[in-house]
Amino acid sequence: MVILLCICLILPQTGCANVSAGGDEKISVGVVVYSFDDTFMEEVRSAIKNTADKENVRVEIWDSQGSQNKQNEQIDQFIKQGVDVLAINPVDRTAAGVIIEKAKQENIPIVFFNREPIAQDLQKWDKLYYVGAQASMSGMIAGQILAEYWKEHPEMDKNSDGKMQYVMIKGEPGHQDVELRKKYSISYIEQQGIQVDKLAEDSAMWDRQKAKERMLAIISTYGDQIEAVIAQNDDMAIGAIEALKEQGYFTSDRTFVPVVGVNATLSAIQAIKEGVLLGTSYNDAQRQGQATLLLAKELAEGKNPQESGFEKETGFSIDQGHYIWVRYIKITSENTNDALRNR
Ligand code: GAL
Ligand code: CA
Repeated sequence: MVILLCICLILPQTGCANVSAGGDEKISVGVVVYSFDDTFMEEVRSAIKNTADKENVRVEIWDSQGSQNKQNEQIDQFIKQGVDVLAINPVDRTAAGVIIEKAKQENIPIVFFNREPIAQDLQKWDKLYYVGAQASMSGMIAGQILAEYWKEHPEMDKNSDGKMQYVMIKGEPGHQDVELRKKYSISYIEQQGIQVDKLAEDSAMWDRQKAKERMLAIISTYGDQIEAVIAQNDDMAIGAIEALKEQGYFTSDRTFVPVVGVNATLSAIQAIKEGVLLGTSYNDAQRQGQATLLLAKELAEGKNPQESGFEKETGFSIDQGHYIWVRYIKITSENTNDALRNR
């Protein structure tokens, strides 16, 4: 430290300001998150915070409480405060265009995360990025878990009609994960030569309690006809399982209902271990939070992450000039530990 400070005193132009006394010149990142009530986003938030602490970056993280208007005000406030960079988890991803105009005017780069702006918006400036996981992949994993189970467990076809009667519990309308998880889960199952038959499809806004209520209604209509439940995240999968349990399912092998989720939250891993959740895909909040913060820092330092050695140093590669993709991992009872690394 002493040596470093000396070098800084001798060479003030080398950008040592951040380690000099006072800390006032730390990089500051303004972060907005669509809602603090979201289980998965809680993990992303803490990953951002932990990385910021490690990197000696000042970070403020605000709750947009599900309101795009509120978020726009928060962004105005951050700009007024003079943050060096913004990290944005939009409430409404189609609102990115307006946000981009503002930030660009002030030359403040933006890293969007988890809720993906439409491609045209991201092309509007070279200091715009998106960090997330590829939704199609989580869809395929859900389909794969069910297709494999179907092949190994002929009794899953309760009515022996050769078709998988399924229920789909979806997240928030308009979210990229909703359409893509839906499309890719089903097409994966069909590609495996398994016919599907949709009994019901409903939205439960990523929420456990709402999913439980929807599922109770679905059970009262379809009951034993249900051969599979595809929930678009783990909270909703657990809500569906609670409803099924309440209606007498999961008391023996005979009343087991295959349910899949997405995220690999800690409660989901617990549910897999208990044998009630068939599987999920690990949505790596740690790496997404880390990539968001590291990229934000790089941009705040005025660097071009594609030329600065960022990719080599961090291991995160930049795709098509604007994207960092974090991979999902298929999780079943065979590999729950894969979702516990880094946690
Ligand atoms: C998804 C995640 C959901 C929810 C949503 C919020 O990636 O699977 O559980 O957190 O992001 O945008
Ligand atoms: Ca069937």
